[in-house]
Amino acid sequence: MLLHIPEVLTPAQVASMRQALADADWSDGRDTVGPQGARVKHNRQLPEHAALGQQLGQVILAALAVNPLYFSAALPLRTVPPLFNRYAGGEHYGDHVDGAVRKMPGSGTLLRTDLSCTLFLCQPDDYEGGELVVADTYGTHDVKLAAGDMILYPSSSVHRVEPVTSGERVCAFFWLQSMVRDNVQRAALFELDQTIQRLRARIGDCEEVVSLTRHYHNLLRGWAEV
Ligand code: NI
Repeated sequence: MLLHIPEVLTPAQVASMRQALADADWSDGRDTVGPQGARVKHNRQLPEHAALGQQLGQVILAALAVNPLYFSAALPLRTVPPLFNRYAGGEHYGDHVDGAVRKMPGSGTLLRTDLSCTLFLCQPDDYEGGELVVADTYGTHDVKLAAGDMILYPSSSVHRVEPVTSGERVCAFFWLQSMVRDNVQRAALFELDQTIQRLRARIGDCEEVVSLTRHYHNLLRGWAEV
């Protein structure tokens, strides 16, 4: 499931991040990938331990912590602090799959990458190219979102970033381990939760809504690994 989560950041938060990142010290994006990724990755990133990146990453994590759509879709257990990348002058990242396991910086705790997230910090009109192309069982999807919006997609998918032929594309990206490992189970829980929310908004907390809520939580109890 690919999910577009709109307005994760406010326009003011995006503007202040862009300003802070404009003078940042970008390094070669190949610093954080394995050998297959390194062969196809041509971009720049903020170094993983850069204080600026850590500070901006906290702003994103705080925004996501109060985003009910994100929580419902991702059911996050562990989240890698966001990293930041920049593409310009034809830079691109060819077809690859994200590594299955990552170490959390600092603690060294392992994290299984179930979901990948890209948060756009530039408006689509600011640059040519730069689409995130994600392949799933339904074909390929081109993703290029408004500044402040985020896409959530399975880390198991092959994906790429098309060459940025003019302007620049700046994004934040990160991975998370979900409480529910299986994509089909997680998608079913998401649909059920969204339906319950709509039903509750339309008819209130009647007996049937309470019963469906019980079903949701009992399925989550059965499938969650925490
Ligand atoms: Ni990737």
